[in-house]
Amino acid sequence: MATVVNIFSHTIGRKLIMALTGGFLIIFLIGHLAGNLVLFVEDSQLAFNEYTKFMTTNPFVKVLSYLTYISIILHVIYAIVLGRMNTQARPVRYSYNKPAQSSTWNARSMTLLGLIVLVFLIIHLKSFWFELKFGAVPMMEGTDLKDLHTVVIAAFSQWWYVIIYVLAMAGLAYHLDHGFQSAFQTLGLNHKAYTPVIKSIGRIFAIAVPALFALIPVYVYLTQNNIL
Ligand code: HEM
Repeated sequence: MATVVNIFSHTIGRKLIMALTGGFLIIFLIGHLAGNLVLFVEDSQLAFNEYTKFMTTNPFVKVLSYLTYISIILHVIYAIVLGRMNTQARPVRYSYNKPAQSSTWNARSMTLLGLIVLVFLIIHLKSFWFELKFGAVPMMEGTDLKDLHTVVIAAFSQWWYVIIYVLAMAGLAYHLDHGFQSAFQTLGLNHKAYTPVIKSIGRIFAIAVPALFALIPVYVYLTQNNIL
């Protein structure tokens, strides 16, 4: 037991928690994107509403959902703890700073990017997840399904909502890109041949997943406003 407590309270243990919870959230993102891609299909109302019902009622998905919430909470808490430790370790700022030599732009901005993603998440969960679970979403005619599709389409038909999603997804892309690099370091995955390949896959993922997420509201906006 003491060993477990030690792991969680040492810097390397804390970084490990960041890497593991981050890894789980990446898997969540893949599943979440796959489900929401149905919004690209014409007449997706029934399919989307069935999908959201499945996501909130299936017992296996429920367990995954709780793991997602726990991962988000731990990821945020440990980011704050590690950030505080870094500041405390160096209370006096150097009189001359050459930040570009010690870390990349997004490494230094990881906290800010994480904060952007967190603010996005609060807006996002309030709009859809909270409405679905606790709000008064009307039923889809002739079915026993809550019509969240209409709520999502109404939200994405507003330009400012689309802008929030696109900007937040740019932040998420940078956040994921650096997250991959630091997870590799923490997990000690260093192999001459494989590491560069895995890093490239990480970079492609970090760009492609947020880009597809951002395309959904853009596509809905353009089609709803008869531009496409
Ligand atoms: C266009 C993009 C997106 C759409 C249309 C969308 C839609 C939805 C909907 C309808 C729900 C409630 C039903 C459900 O649990 O599946 C939901 C929940 C959620 N979304 Fe999204 N989402 C999008 C992007 C994102 C992104 C980029 C993130 C994270 C950075 C995210 C994180 C979450 C989380 C954590 C939940 C709660 C999941 C759960 O209860 O298991 N979503 N989203």
